[in-house]
Amino acid sequence: MDKIEEKELWPEEKSLMKAEISRRKFITSATLAALGLAMTPYATLAAAPSNKPVNFASFVEINTTINGQNMKMKLDPRTSLLDLLREQLGLTGSKKGCNQGACGACTVHMGKDRINSCLTLAAQIDGKEVTTIEGIGSETEFHPIQVAFMEHDGYQCGYCTPGQIMSAIKVLEEDHAGSDAEIREWMSGNICRCGAYKGIVEAVKSVRDETYDKKLIKRTQQKVS
Ligand code: FES
Ligand code: FES
Repeated sequence: MDKIEEKELWPEEKSLMKAEISRRKFITSATLAALGLAMTPYATLAAAPSNKPVNFASFVEINTTINGQNMKMKLDPRTSLLDLLREQLGLTGSKKGCNQGACGACTVHMGKDRINSCLTLAAQIDGKEVTTIEGIGSETEFHPIQVAFMEHDGYQCGYCTPGQIMSAIKVLEEDHAGSDAEIREWMSGNICRCGAYKGIVEAVKSVRDETYDKKLIKRTQQKVS
């Protein structure tokens, strides 16, 4: 995308455009501001010196690994990781609940960490490994925590579940599942509007104690194949 379409602008930006600030000057300056490359107040744009095109990179290029697959791509630098996953890569398992870091529905793994993909710029995954809910199991072989969520009714509507599962995996890896209270504390960034918290805690404990039904994975394989 070489230029920003008018329909993508905020209402305030549109009204500034109506104030007869030239389209080229406005778009160039707004884009630079979005990139953190310019501090020019909009009010001073009318006095900008010329219509000469400004030379700046509209895209960033990244190399990354998502669910074990190496990828090289060019991105609008404003794209969030969540939008990259859902809108461009079709990985819709990560959910957009609040889009502001408050619900955890978008939780994915980046290296050793769990992160809110809605608060992460896609450009930040350059050189990193990202794992989404699609990368932890398959249609024929579920991850133990997925089995445990099924066994312990760790969900109702399921909207928060991908994020809960991605967080639960890290809680277990980080050894933060010593008690119910500790599990609740370390899972507290993941909100469940259905209130399935009791089942979620039981699911995490069953993987911690390895009491989940390992046969369920095999039964799933037989059923699907
Ligand atoms: S959608 Fe990212 S934290 Fe809610
Ligand atoms: S299962 Fe519905 S929001 Fe958690």
